[in-house]
Amino acid sequence: MFANVPPPAPDPILSLSAAFRKDARTDKVDLGVGVYRDVSGKTPIFGAVKSAERGLLESQTTKAYVGIQGNVGFLQSFGELLFPELAFAKDYTAVQTLGGTGGVRLALDLVHLLTPNSTVWVPSSTWGNHYQLIKASGLRAKTYNQQKYHSSTSAALAIDDLAQAQSGDCVIFHGCCHNPTGIDYSEAAQDELFASLAGRGIVPIIDAAYIGFGAGFSADAARIAKIIRRFPESFVAVSCSKNIGLYRERLGACFAFGESKELVTAVQGHLESLARGMYSMPADHGASVVEIILKDHQLCEHWLSELEAQRQHIKQSRAKLSDEITKAGGDFDTSYIANGNGMFCLFPMVDTSISRLREVEGIYIGPGGRLNIAALADADVTRVALGLTGSFDRGLLDSDLQSP
Ligand code: LMR
Repeated sequence: MFANVPPPAPDPILSLSAAFRKDARTDKVDLGVGVYRDVSGKTPIFGAVKSAERGLLESQTTKAYVGIQGNVGFLQSFGELLFPELAFAKDYTAVQTLGGTGGVRLALDLVHLLTPNSTVWVPSSTWGNHYQLIKASGLRAKTYNQQKYHSSTSAALAIDDLAQAQSGDCVIFHGCCHNPTGIDYSEAAQDELFASLAGRGIVPIIDAAYIGFGAGFSADAARIAKIIRRFPESFVAVSCSKNIGLYRERLGACFAFGESKELVTAVQGHLESLARGMYSMPADHGASVVEIILKDHQLCEHWLSELEAQRQHIKQSRAKLSDEITKAGGDFDTSYIANGNGMFCLFPMVDTSISRLREVEGIYIGPGGRLNIAALADADVTRVALGLTGSFDRGLLDSDLQSP
């Protein structure tokens, strides 16, 4: 069976991390995979997480199975924080998943089970793994416009593309902090986009892996809730990797919103049976930790303040990088870098420049010119800005304002 197995195409993001680890240069810079780094270059464990873990170590009395849905205390508490105006188990349900990725995959698998001919609309620039997830679930993908290097104060191009979406189709939308562009629609443009989709039998799948890094935790959650309220049915895949720093614990959830308690209960049953057929049930450690945090007012406030500090730090790094590119002679409007949300932005550069920066200068940049600004140390900003400015491609910048 294994004879003549061709090697798979390497994952464009995670293979970069592997190459970085092997690189012996001491001045190498990793702007690839989306992890936050503090001023000392570490990806810290949140203080609230450490406290909760200490409590868990003492209080946990069994490691018996939890159940297919996962940790209901975590799901309910997280749901109440995210969607305070909606009722868990009545307006929506949730299943704990392996990170936000697992949440998107489970939603897509359910869509495939219920409407196998659905098309999934994804932004023309998106997290590359979306395509793998759509393919693995058996659905097909089409794209709608997503600007890469210009702020999105209008959704007109996306609305044009999505005019072709049919009833039963799904639209993947990045809840906040678009990956890889960092460009979120202005609130008015987002309203305009979803107004154009509402009432057409279209189901949003909101990939919300970065809640808390955009305009702040409750503001980001409120923007997502606003979308949900427009649609009778929708999914939200959330992640605790970045905003609670639990990357390797693989904690996330698939929230499914429906029109009645009966419908959401049936949906939950299907999500559980799909999970059972894939991995049976999720791991509990991260979920128990977050449950402790969310149920303890002080710990919850502590976690939110730590998250806010990371958000502010990233904002400062964005502004510095934008300034330094201009100082290095970058003759274009870099305000989309300073004003973008979350960890990422795209820099207009072609693949050969990305490889050259990696090979010659030891600066690791993600696919398509994606920079993880959340990992950019102050000491490296000037050097990175110079490298980027020397790699700038005006043709890419100019072609951004057209539909895919
Ligand atoms: C990223 O986009 O870098 C992260 O979401 C990590 C991943 O799994 O790709």
